[in-house]
Amino acid sequence: MKILHISAECYPIAKVGGLADVVGALPKYQNTQKTSSQVLMPFYENAFTKKNQFTTLYQSKVNLGNQSFPFEIKTLKNNKLGFDIFFVSIPELLSTDYVYSSDDADRFLTFQIAALDWILTLKKKPTIVHCHDHHVGLIPFMMTQSVKYNELKDIPTVLTIHNAQYQGWFSYEKLANIPKFDMVNAGLLDWDSQINPLAAAIKCAWRVTTVSPSYMEELKKEANGLESLLQHESDKCVGILNGIDTEVWNPETDHYIEKNYTISSVQSGKKANKNYLCKRFNLDNKKPLFVFIGRLVGEKGAELLPKAFDLLLRENKSSVLLLGSGNSDVEHELEILRDKHNGTYNTFIGYDEKLSHIMYAGADFLLMPSRVEPCGLNQMYALRYGTIPVVRSIGGLKDTVIDINENGFGILHKEVSISDMVYALKRGVELYQDTIKFKKTRNSIMNINHSWDTSAKTYINLYKSLNQ
Ligand code: ADP
Ligand code: GLC
Repeated sequence: MKILHISAECYPIAKVGGLADVVGALPKYQNTQKTSSQVLMPFYENAFTKKNQFTTLYQSKVNLGNQSFPFEIKTLKNNKLGFDIFFVSIPELLSTDYVYSSDDADRFLTFQIAALDWILTLKKKPTIVHCHDHHVGLIPFMMTQSVKYNELKDIPTVLTIHNAQYQGWFSYEKLANIPKFDMVNAGLLDWDSQINPLAAAIKCAWRVTTVSPSYMEELKKEANGLESLLQHESDKCVGILNGIDTEVWNPETDHYIEKNYTISSVQSGKKANKNYLCKRFNLDNKKPLFVFIGRLVGEKGAELLPKAFDLLLRENKSSVLLLGSGNSDVEHELEILRDKHNGTYNTFIGYDEKLSHIMYAGADFLLMPSRVEPCGLNQMYALRYGTIPVVRSIGGLKDTVIDINENGFGILHKEVSISDMVYALKRGVELYQDTIKFKKTRNSIMNINHSWDTSAKTYINLYKSLNQ
């Protein structure tokens, strides 16, 4: 079975969030289970591509309406990723160091057309095309509807929805950019009088998955306008929980962290990492350290953080460190809070992969008050590093964290509210003070297995059911 994952992000090449982590890990795990799983993504001019070498496999031109752009398919030399990777290089559109921008409709549509033009030329075509999120959501439509891709119409397609908030909408003025198809079927592209790539993918893909079972159910009630579509298509939809790459995220071998550790050395290992963080960010290492790592957006409950931190820190029983970027008002509020809680609070506005690893390792608690959380990987990384999750009970968080009061290991809160969140944080402080219970919990979570092995197999079984 030859599976081609198509995505805008893939770790370690280009990462904005969890989508990259999933696409950089799932194919690797699938390849340990007798498949040939590959990735196709845009070629960005970023730190990774500047540092590595590539071979050009194919050259041509891609049409977007009346415009024509030269493109190349490249592959990575000295590839140690655990899967084959191919890149669509369209210098005029994609040679940026960022992944997303305001002209994404044109950038990603051209990427998708070039991708399919190249797949058409392959002697050995994929047996499954697996599309991730709306950026590549027009592929299932074009494969089944566009005249020039007629030869691809019997290849099963799978769409994974990592986040239904973003749908890639664009206006009908750009309709002619989509390779010619029978206009009778134009409705497949439509949702609320716009071209909606995510809706088109839900309609046209052979199967639709979401990244946790709870999120699948939640989407039927709240999916930024697509609820009724997901209800209608529910027979072909299934929630499959993400896993984590336990080689990249391993406290025993992680080269980013200050001191490596296992369950038996967790106490001293975490202490060394916590000390590093407390020294670097001027925090009190005697107090429980709560961290937040993530995008500062409404979905993550980011606007609650400044006030909740302020209330927690007033009691002078905790330290807090935040790593993230996003909404500029929230960033500003978080920054000015430093003056008020100097010595127990700090924030790093920006993106820093290395620091994130040290924070998973050095923190006592990881905070995720998400409003929406399709899966969430942070809480699973935290568990692996012996950091107790304090999370809202939603989506993938609900599927991976059990409250300590219900024979579990984490702290859950129900509402997206400052009071609920602060109450949960205070429960964390209490747990920390109960040293025996705290240590027992910390040891137990490091044993939880969230490796991709199981879910990679579930995806493979799903592909098999489509290839019969
Ligand atoms: P989402 O994809 O919605 O942002 P996930 O929990 O699935 O959320 O994944 C987030 C990923 O991005 C994790 O690997 C997390 O460590 C990483 N991450 C988020 N923000 C930052 C940041 N500011 N610096 C470093 N890593 C970050
Ligand atoms: C999205 C979701 C996040 C999920 C990630 C990987 O970015 O917001 O919850 O973990 O995709 O599937």
